[in-house]
Amino acid sequence: MVVIYICFHHLDAILLVLISISAFMVSSRPIATHPEDHVAATSLVLKSSDGEKFEVKLQVALQSEAIRQMIVDGGFSNEIELSFPNITGVIMAKVLEYCNKHVDYDGAVNNLTAVEELKAFDTQYVNVHYETLFKLILASNELKIKGLLDLVSGKIADMIKGKEVEEIREMFNIKQGSCADHSTKKQYVQGNAWAFQ
Ligand SMILES: *[C@@H]1O[C@H](CO)[C@@H](O)[C@H](O)[C@H]1NC(C)=O
Ligand SMILES: *[C@@H]1O[C@H](CO)[C@@H](O)[C@H](O)[C@H]1NC(C)=O
Repeated sequence: MVVIYICFHHLDAILLVLISISAFMVSSRPIATHPEDHVAATSLVLKSSDGEKFEVKLQVALQSEAIRQMIVDGGFSNEIELSFPNITGVIMAKVLEYCNKHVDYDGAVNNLTAVEELKAFDTQYVNVHYETLFKLILASNELKIKGLLDLVSGKIADMIKGKEVEEIREMFNIKQGSCADHSTKKQYVQGNAWAFQ
């Protein structure tokens, strides 16, 4: 396992998040199986930090284990509105783009055409600025959408694979000398095992 020591300055939480992902996902609470049994609603409203509201079908939202748990725990009668003070409307929309696509395709694992289409969607989906990727990591971690977390972490790992620390700094616009220089001797990032296992 390769550990990289890079001071991420304003993004200092990111590496910690990446490294703790596997452990976190595994240790999260057991999945509540049928929130559908707990509520009559077939859709719900998700509210972002900037007050934007998204009406989402239950099946789409349930890809989030956090939402699944909230619904089971929540004792909702008919209308469900959940607030996410750490997730902006822009990022929520992007997360929902993923959920909307995957809800249609996840049952089609034996359909080669569908699998290829989904792969193409995923590739396109993560073709965004790194700051968006980092925000998506935090959002998918909070919402516990494992597929999205894996997808975005994988993209970041690919971006830094085989690069020198200096190149990574440039890629992510990390200021030189922004942290104590005790750990920045040249190291190469090999593979992406550090992020996942
Ligand atoms: C929002 O982020 C803060 C700081 O990272 C964290 O302590 C808090 O638990 C988060 N809120 C939710 C609802 O996850
Ligand atoms: C396989 O997936 C494609 C693309 O989504 C779809 O058009 C087609 O109907 C699917 N085939 C079967 C047998 O479900």
